[in-house]
Amino acid sequence: MDKLLIEGGRPLSGEVAISGAKNAALPLLCAALLTREPLRLSNVPDLNDIGTMLKLLAQMGVKIEKVGAGGTANTVILDASGLDNPVAPYELVKTMRASVLVLGPLAARAGEARVSLPGGCAIGARPVDQHIKGLTAMGAEVSVEHGYVHARATRLKGARLFTDMVTVTGTENLMMAACLADGETVIENAAREPEVVDLANCLVAMGAQISGAGSDVIRIRGVERLHGATHRIMPDRIETGTYLCAAAAAGGQIRLTQTSASYLDAVIDKLMDAGCEVTLERDAIMLKAPARPTAVSIRTSPYPAFPTDMQAQFMALNATASGTAVIRETIFENRFMHAVELIRLGADIKIDGNTAFVTGVSKLDGATVMATDLRASASLVIAGLVAQGETLIERIYHLDRGYEKLEQKLMALGARVRRVK
Ligand code: UD1
Repeated sequence: MDKLLIEGGRPLSGEVAISGAKNAALPLLCAALLTREPLRLSNVPDLNDIGTMLKLLAQMGVKIEKVGAGGTANTVILDASGLDNPVAPYELVKTMRASVLVLGPLAARAGEARVSLPGGCAIGARPVDQHIKGLTAMGAEVSVEHGYVHARATRLKGARLFTDMVTVTGTENLMMAACLADGETVIENAAREPEVVDLANCLVAMGAQISGAGSDVIRIRGVERLHGATHRIMPDRIETGTYLCAAAAAGGQIRLTQTSASYLDAVIDKLMDAGCEVTLERDAIMLKAPARPTAVSIRTSPYPAFPTDMQAQFMALNATASGTAVIRETIFENRFMHAVELIRLGADIKIDGNTAFVTGVSKLDGATVMATDLRASASLVIAGLVAQGETLIERIYHLDRGYEKLEQKLMALGARVRRVK
């Protein structure tokens, strides 16, 4: 298993381009299931999660063509005209929870879907009851047997849907299903995440009638069929935030291109509170770190509040900041696993339920640590960049799920990073 060796204690400087958003790309790939015509997506990041989703779609009968120079194809053309196997098997779903995003499109277009339950994952139980509740309200017959969700419907019917909590993939699944339903669907308490808006924009380009995406009430008037379209995937706001956080913690000055600050208000606000100078351009963000960051408290909540996917990185930033930060995680019940690893590097962190108290120390020391999930791994990379000496991060397959060309990008910023096979 690959490991990442980081020689820390060096400030970052330079420029890197941000990739397309993983969490936008995953539902967008599934949107191809909704039509017999080709869907052309550009700015698709080259990540393991994307590879898993493409594998899943291919075994359903979707033809996939990658277009682009060399091995860095970032345009994908998906043709679901031959869709013949509406099944998402456990072997693929267990490695990536977002596989559940095929459920809505399959039920809507194929009239049938068999999707393995994702089961638990490292950051919490993460059930899919809201996805099921929504499809049932739209007239699907849904049963859960032998670990699989089985949904059947001749044609889904528009309905008024209300989710018990804000769920991102739940909103996306139901929005996609509603595009081909008979009549109007209203999703209340919808997720407002920018990735939901990116998906809605693509669906509209495919002929869907959607209004309100980006607010907490989304209206979808179902149509008979959708057609092909071309869509460019939005920049990855979490990758952007991760590099900003890395520079804020390690020191220095970086410029991130092909990205946008417009989805990152809550994160940039906190970076400025930490003492960073942030300059915004149209498609780029520049950050200059303070000599030592000031501790910043955060509370995670659905968009537009502070994202849970940036919580771990801010814990790493706070580890060497001046002062004490209070970090409250309200989305996932078990998302502090990086704390024990950060403590191994010398951080002073106390956990009480869903709250972490982080008192900044003057320095971290390199050690061997273990990555436990995607964003936890990112926090260990940041801590490794800050720590004196060498940090060896084990199980970095988590990072390969969600950060494109991580080592190359960090090296472009002057970091000393090496993948150890
Ligand atoms: C998405 C993101 C993930 C991010 C998360 C929260 C993708 C591919 N992943 O995950 O990176 O961390 O949003 O911003 O976009 N819940 C239920 N029942 C359901 C659905 C959700 O109880 O049917 C709960 C979850 O356990 C969690 C909360 O609702 O506590 C929010 O989860 P949700 O927004 O659904 O997360 P994902 O869409 O899986």
